[in-house]
Amino acid sequence: METYKVLLIGSGGREHALAWGLAKSPMLESLFIAPGNPGTAQFGTNVSLDVDDFEAVLEFIEANGITFVVIGPEKPLVDGLTDYLEDYGHKVFGPSKAAARLEGSKSYSKSIMQKYGIPTAAYHVFERHEVSQIREYISNMDVFPVVLKADGLAAGKGVFICSSAEEASDVLDTILNDVNLSAAADFFVVEEFMQGEEVSVFALSDGQTAKLIGYAQDHKRIGDNDTGLNTGGMGAYAPAPLLDQAALEHIFNTIVQPTIDAMAMEATPYKGVLYTGLMMTSEGPKVVEYNCRFGDPECQVIVPSLEQDLLEMMLMTVSGRLEYASFSSKPGYFCSVVMASKGYPGAYMKGFPIQGLGLVDEDVTVFHSGTAEIDGQIVTHGGRVLNVVGHGMTLQEAIDKAYASVERIQFEGATYRIDIGQKGLRRVASSRP
Ligand code: AMP
Ligand code: GLY
Repeated sequence: METYKVLLIGSGGREHALAWGLAKSPMLESLFIAPGNPGTAQFGTNVSLDVDDFEAVLEFIEANGITFVVIGPEKPLVDGLTDYLEDYGHKVFGPSKAAARLEGSKSYSKSIMQKYGIPTAAYHVFERHEVSQIREYISNMDVFPVVLKADGLAAGKGVFICSSAEEASDVLDTILNDVNLSAAADFFVVEEFMQGEEVSVFALSDGQTAKLIGYAQDHKRIGDNDTGLNTGGMGAYAPAPLLDQAALEHIFNTIVQPTIDAMAMEATPYKGVLYTGLMMTSEGPKVVEYNCRFGDPECQVIVPSLEQDLLEMMLMTVSGRLEYASFSSKPGYFCSVVMASKGYPGAYMKGFPIQGLGLVDEDVTVFHSGTAEIDGQIVTHGGRVLNVVGHGMTLQEAIDKAYASVERIQFEGATYRIDIGQKGLRRVASSRP
């Protein structure tokens, strides 16, 4: 059996889950994670590389005989790290720069959906210098809320749901006066507001063949019952009972495969994991957004649910062999509760010792997001700190297991939502005969 020396790029909970999955593979010879976190260090060697410095990444790969690179986050993908490394003959899991535009440019992804008839919200694109036209366009609208989006990557902060023309006008000022947001706003997308429940669907694609590997529900708001500010995601569970087999097939046939076909038609084939964020509207599923990577925190419930060897699946994706692959999920449900620092998603303090990591139940896995190790002690080092993932034969059991372990882990200011998975439970209850 051929074995691989893998370099995994990234440092979040998603990458800890990927490292955990890769480490189970008999095809893994060794694993390096750049820059990684104390969680990924359990499965390989963390290396402090600046992943924005493509030359430094290449140098590391060549000096260490790396034979496979897995890119976790969107930024290096959108910046073209895959293309750069492939030009030097390296094998990379993650879409090309051109294909990653599905996430990197909202106006581009909308244009693909429009051109190929993929269901999504009605929209209008404006250039940056057309701010006064945007204001006029919105002031003539009679249906609110309306959604205003900066075109480029904005770390989840570029989407605004505006309940009036005045609010939209203020949002435009906010975007243009914020250094980071403004940099992502060469274009603006003004979009119809879609009503419904959201679900994240994950597929692997080798450029032609797509295969669904899982679907999960994220919890983006900081507060229980989806209240308060948006965050990176406060928890997830999979599979989401919102989708039954017929809905999944419909989504695959009308959205996922058509997207992969569209990218092939555009001569920018999509290879990697495609994360489709969907709104289940009364008119059927519609695309909210595409992401060119695994979701975080969704990855923390999707990877543990996979029956197949993650490394082998990624290799089949890169080498165009997905046609022959079949995927299945472990029985039961997975629920991940994010433990965050007090103050997140606003300002928060770091450096608090974390106690109780060794006290979690069997069937529970803890993936680190923002942690650091100082003198042998794991401390808080980010807004989202830990993901506590429970597995159970029922969703209720998965939820109960996750929370029982959450209660045993302590750090100063630890906060978490207490309703992760409840939406799913309500659906399970209502679908009972
Ligand atoms: P994003 O930052 O692109 O992940 O978008 C953040 C969130 O904004 C999505 O998860 C949705 O909850 C919401 N959103 C984006 N577009 C729409 C839309 N057209 N209608 C309703 N909600 C939306
Ligand atoms: N879970 C949201 C994201 O990864 O973008």
